[in-house]
Amino acid sequence: SSKGESVLRDEIQDLVAGFPSAKNWDGTPLYFYKGVWYPVFGIRGALSFQQHFIARDTDIILASMPKSGTTWLKALAFSVVNRNIYSPTESPLLTTPPHDLVRFFEMDLYSKSQLPDLEHLPAPRIFSSHTHYEILPPSIRGSSCKIVYICRNPLDQLVSYFHFARKFKRENVKPLTSIDEGFDNICRGIQSYGPFWESVLGYWKASLERPDKVLFLKYEDLKEDITFNLKKLAEFLGLPFSEKEEKEGVIQEIAELCSFDNLKDLKVNRTGFFKSAPNSSFFRKAKVGGWCNDLTPSMAERFLKIVEEKLAGSGLSF
Ligand code: A3P
Repeated sequence: SSKGESVLRDEIQDLVAGFPSAKNWDGTPLYFYKGVWYPVFGIRGALSFQQHFIARDTDIILASMPKSGTTWLKALAFSVVNRNIYSPTESPLLTTPPHDLVRFFEMDLYSKSQLPDLEHLPAPRIFSSHTHYEILPPSIRGSSCKIVYICRNPLDQLVSYFHFARKFKRENVKPLTSIDEGFDNICRGIQSYGPFWESVLGYWKASLERPDKVLFLKYEDLKEDITFNLKKLAEFLGLPFSEKEEKEGVIQEIAELCSFDNLKDLKVNRTGFFKSAPNSSFFRKAKVGGWCNDLTPSMAERFLKIVEEKLAGSGLSF
């Protein structure tokens, strides 16, 4: 009932007021809850999502740290899943931003005062989340729905976030002006949906324990060989490309449709907003190793050393 929901919202508000907080790169607060730093515009949705979402076995959840290739993964997964419904020339991606086709739980679906009605959505439903594996709603871990996680070199990820945070249109909020200003926080894991290492490690371990449930992808690998990774994604989702499709070039068509150059130049992605972020802010440079333009070698070394220590023994490295 709406009364029940408003009680819930007040409870969340009281709860959040008691959380430790810190300043995010965009100038807004981050709140620390159950091991995760949530952005102010994601915390309510994150809590509501954790409490209320019920997964179906056919669901597909795309998970990531922000700025790790989420937008790309949304486009790819949407295209793989719907390839028999839309040909590449009539793909909804040509007219709709990826974040409206595959919606975030925290910042979007569960951030509103009313709980979302997700029942009517046809299977397979595709959603996206920045929530860490361990605290996903129990029905996600407990059902046979699939999770695809994408991660990215932590230096490129943080540089990408720094630039992204400066593009938000918000009144009376001033983003941090230099990378140095927020860097100590980053080194302590204080960033939107951080710590970075907690996010990646949770999904990494889950992908080793349950390879049929969690697919772990790296942005850099997709950049290097999109065909191989599209095949891997399609197989994992139980929708492998047939020989006929391969011969007809379906994989290349999807790769091309979802490529940075193609999506970035579409009018729908050059204009408009997702919340307070311009749609265009999700498409910047898309380079591997571009961090060296913004971080000094000593900053890079310091942060990488911390990440390496945190990931030691896991078999995961960057
Ligand atoms: P840069 O800021 O380094 O350019 P997210 O989608 O998780 O918010 O991540 C955004 C990053 O992915 C940005 O990185 C953006 O340019 C890049 N990106 C967006 N769309 C992409 C695509 N189709 N292919 C490759 N990279 C993409």
